[in-house]
Amino acid sequence: MDKQRRAVVKGLAAASLTALTACGGSSTDTPVADLAPAPGIVGDDTASQPAVAFNHGVASGDPLADRVILWTRVTPTDELPRTVSSIPVRVTVALDRDMRDVVGQFSTSTGPERDFCIKLDAAGLQPDTWYYYQFAAGNQRSPVGRTRTFPGAGMAVERARFAVVSCSNYAYGLFSVYKAVSEQADLDFILHLGDYIYEYGPGEYGDFPGRDPLPAHEITSLADYRERHAQYKTDTNLQAVHQQFPMICIWDDHESANDSYRDGAENHTEATEGAWTQRRSDAIQAYFEWLPIREVTSDSGRIWRDFAFGNLMDLFMLDTRLEGRDQPVSSSADPERFSAERRLVSEDQMNWLLAGLTSSSARWRMIGQQVMFAELNVLRTLDVARTLGLDDSFGFNGQLLSLNMDQWDGYVADREVILRTLAAEAIDNTVIFTGDIHTSWANEVYADSGNLLENTLVSPLAAEFVTPSVTSPGFPEQVADLAALAVRTVNPHMKYVELKTPGFILVDVTTERTQAEFYYVRSIRERDLQGVIDPAMTKVVGVDSGSSRIYQDRALSEPRAIRTALFHPPVRPPVRTPPVRTAVS
Ligand SMILES: [Fe+2]
Repeated sequence: MDKQRRAVVKGLAAASLTALTACGGSSTDTPVADLAPAPGIVGDDTASQPAVAFNHGVASGDPLADRVILWTRVTPTDELPRTVSSIPVRVTVALDRDMRDVVGQFSTSTGPERDFCIKLDAAGLQPDTWYYYQFAAGNQRSPVGRTRTFPGAGMAVERARFAVVSCSNYAYGLFSVYKAVSEQADLDFILHLGDYIYEYGPGEYGDFPGRDPLPAHEITSLADYRERHAQYKTDTNLQAVHQQFPMICIWDDHESANDSYRDGAENHTEATEGAWTQRRSDAIQAYFEWLPIREVTSDSGRIWRDFAFGNLMDLFMLDTRLEGRDQPVSSSADPERFSAERRLVSEDQMNWLLAGLTSSSARWRMIGQQVMFAELNVLRTLDVARTLGLDDSFGFNGQLLSLNMDQWDGYVADREVILRTLAAEAIDNTVIFTGDIHTSWANEVYADSGNLLENTLVSPLAAEFVTPSVTSPGFPEQVADLAALAVRTVNPHMKYVELKTPGFILVDVTTERTQAEFYYVRSIRERDLQGVIDPAMTKVVGVDSGSSRIYQDRALSEPRAIRTALFHPPVRPPVRTPPVRTAVS
C-alpha cells in the first residue's frame, strides 16, 4: 500500500473523519475511498476531459474544531455542452502543501442552480490543525489552499492572531491591503466585517482605471449579484488572502444596497428597482454561494453565529443589517432614536448574544459586527469643528451626521441592553470589532460616554476597535486630521482616531492582553506599491485582561514561528518601537 493510499484508508477508518455535511453541495455527497481520477461530467457525452476552469481561486471559512468550509467555483468553458446540468467535483484534504499526506477525499457536485460554486463542510478533522485542500473536476485541478481548524472549546490556548478587514471597493483602487494581509507570516484567520462587494455601477463610487464594476450597472438581480461576486474573486490579491487563511465573514450594507435595513435601503427604490424582498433575497443567495460561510440552517439567511477558539476567546458575529434593523432615523436630533421599541437586531439575535456573553467562560469575548458601537457625540463635535475652522465645504458635517444615525447611536435601546448586561453580570474582557466607516478608531465603551468629562472615575465596560477600509474612502485629505482632533476633543473615550488611510488591524491575543495593531498601506493606486506597509503610520493600541482601558504605543507583537504558509512572505525586519504619533493619536 503506497503512502497516499495508506493515508486515505487511515483517514477513512477514523469514523467521524468521513462525515461530510452537504452545504450548497449535492445531498448525495459521499466520501470516496481512493485516489480515483477526477470525475467526468454528467450529460457530457463527448468529453471525458470536460472543459472547466478554476478562475476564482479557492477559499475556506468558518473553522470549527472538527470541520471547515471549503469553497471554489467551477467555471464551465464554451466547449462544455449546454446540456450539462451537474459537474462532479473531487475535494482532497491533506496535511502537506504538496497534497501527498492525504487525510480525506470527498466527492460532491455543482451546477447552475448554485452558479457552479462548491461549498463543502469538510467534517471529521482534527482540532487546532492546519490543512491543505484542492478541488478537481474533469482534467482540471484548482490551486491548493491552506486552512485550519480551531482548538476545541475549553482547550488550553495561549495565543491567537488574526486580521480584521472591511470595505473592499474594487472600483476605488487596488487591493493593496489584501496583498499586505496575505503576506502576514502568522495569522489564524481573517475577520471580514462586510462591504466585501459594492453594488454601484461604473463611476458611481470609484473610477480606478481598469476596475470598472461588472455588470456595468447597479446590481439588483440574482444574475447581477453573482456577476459582481465573480468579478471581485478574479482579483489576485483577494485570491491570495483566501488561499492562505480561513475567513469568518459577515455582510454589511453594500452586499445588498447602501444603508440597507430589514425592510429597505437608502439605495433602493421599489418603483424602479422592484420589490426589496426580492432584491434582498437575491443578494443573500449570491452571498451564500460565493463566500465560504456555513449555513446555520438552510435558507435562513442567518449570518449571526459564534465560534470558540479554545479557552482563549469566544467570537460572536452579528447581523446588524438585514435581519432585524429598523429604518434609520434621519437626524441625530430625532428623539425616536431613544425609543425602547427600536431594534438594530432582532429579539432572537439579541437573546442569543446576551446568553452567549453571559455563559462564556473564555478569557476574552470578541464581537465582530458592522457599525460603530461607541457613542459619538456629533453635535458637540460639530461645534468644535467650527472653532477649528472646519465648515461643511468638504462634506464634513454631512459625513458625521450620516455616520451617526446608521450606527448604534441611532438604536440606543439595543446598545443599553448589552451594556446593562455586561455591567450586571460583571462580564469582563469584551472587545468589539467594527467595520463600515472606512476609518480607524480605538474606543473605550462606557454606559454613559456623555458624562465622562464630569466623571473620570467610571470604568469602561468594553473596548472597540474599528478597522480602516481596504480601499473605500474615508474623510477628505484636507480635513481628516483636524476632524480627528475635533472628534477626540469632545469624545474623550475615543483614544485613537485616523480618518483617511486604508489598512487593516492585526489582532494579537494572549491570556494577558488583546493588542490591536493598525497597519496602513502606502498606496492603493500604484501597482508597484501593492502590499507595501507604511511603518511610520503603524499604531499599537490594546487592552489588558481585566481592564477595558485602552493602552497605546507598546511594542508590536512578534509572529509565532510556524511553517505552514503556502507561499513565503518577504521578510521585513520588525519595528520594535512604534513611532511616536504626533497628529491625532
Ligand atoms: Fe463600506
